[in-house]
Formats: sequence, structure tokens, C-alpha cells
Amino acid sequence: MRGDNALPAAAPRVVVITGASRGLGAALALSYAAPGRVLGLLARQEDRLEEVAAACRNRGSRVETGVVDVQDHSTIQAWFDAFDTSHPIDLLIVNAGVYTGHGDDGAKESLGEAVWLIRINLEGAIACAYAVLPGMRARHRPPRPGDVPCRSPPFARCAVVLGQQGRPGGIR
Ligand SMILES: NC(=O)c1ccc[n+]([C@@H]2O[C@H](COP(=O)([O-])OP(=O)(O)OC[C@H]3O[C@@H](n4cnc5c(N)ncnc54)[C@H](OP(=O)(O)O)[C@@H]3O)[C@@H](O)[C@H]2O)c1
Repeated sequence: MRGDNALPAAAPRVVVITGASRGLGAALALSYAAPGRVLGLLARQEDRLEEVAAACRNRGSRVETGVVDVQDHSTIQAWFDAFDTSHPIDLLIVNAGVYTGHGDDGAKESLGEAVWLIRINLEGAIACAYAVLPGMRARHRPPRPGDVPCRSPPFARCAVVLGQQGRPGGIR
């Protein structure tokens, strides 16, 4: 795939999107789907995920899916290890998430809901980022003018590194 010229030179070849079974994640998957690009799509609902995967394949992408709950950190790690070995990841979009909203009276969520949100939206995102970072860092190229220095705490550093992946001149 690395020698495939269907994509611009700076475009990410291998893109993983969590929460790709519907909503923004599905829309992102379709927008990234193109000949020469490998997509890794993750979510829990297999039937919905396979529908998105089929639509992306129709647009010319190779697609692998993972039916995974981001709260299951060991399964997440195993999926990323296997995928990254076959397809070194250029861009990870950590999109999987949940939202409880507020009651009509503006009441905050319950403690149980707050913990659930943190487990999926924060810890799940960290688990995905940490599964990807060793491979990305091993493929790291020397910094170029315009790169954001990575001197922030670990999670912020993940966000910086991941945010740069899709940009021309971003970390490779
Ligand atoms: N839409 C907005 O206006 C808005 C605003 C601010 C932030 N966001 C955030 O942006 C992201 C996408 O929003 P959206 O509106 O597209 O949400 P959505 O339609 O509810 O989609 C959420 C996606 O995350 C996946 N997901 C949820 N829990 C998961 C888990 N435990 N493990 C793996 N996958 C999980 C869902 O797939 P499965 O159910 O198949 O697992 C689905 O694909 C979310 O993180 C959301 O909080 C959205």
C-alpha cells in the first residue's frame, strides 16, 4: 500500500476511526474511504459497522473492522497490535463516545452515569491512543518547522501527536 500513488503524498494511507458504526464516525469513514487507503473501523454493533465498512469498500478502500468495546482495554490493545503490524497506522481518530445529556430541569447526570462517561470518553480514548503511540513513535521522523513541540503531559502529548498525523508535515 505504501507504493500506491492513488493518494496525495502527504495524505494518511492507514486511518483508524473508533465509533465508526454511525454518526460522525461513519461520516468520517466514508469521507476517508478512497482507493489506496486502508481503514480500520471500530465499534460494538457489528451489523452497523459492517454496513459502513461495505460502503467504504465500495469507495475503493480496504477495510478491516473490529467489534470492540473501548472499555475492554486488553482487547483494544490486541486489535491495535495486530492491525498496526499489518498496516502501520498514520492517523487515529478517537471518536467513540457517549453522552447522557441533562434532564429537562438541567439536573446533572448521576454518579453512575458520570463514571460511565469517563470510562468510555476518557479512559477508552486513552486506551486507544496508548495502543497506537509506540508504533507511531517508532516510525517518528525528525521534527520539521511548524511542528508543535511535544513537552506536555502524557495524555496531552497523545492529542498533539495524533492531531498532527493528518497534516502535511505532521509526525510520521
Ligand atoms: N454530535 C455532536 O453534536 C457532538 C458534540 C460534541 C461531542 N460529540 C462527540 O463526538 C463523538 C461522535 O458523536 P456522534 O454524534 O457521532 O455520536 P453517536 O452517533 O452516538 O456515535 C457514537 C459512536 O461511538 C461508538 N461507541 C459508543 N460507545 C462505545 C464503546 N463503549 N466502545 C466502542 N464504541 C463505542 C458507537 O458505536 P456502537 O454503539 O456500535 O459501539 C458509535 O459508533 C462522540 O464521542 C460524541 O460524544 C458529538
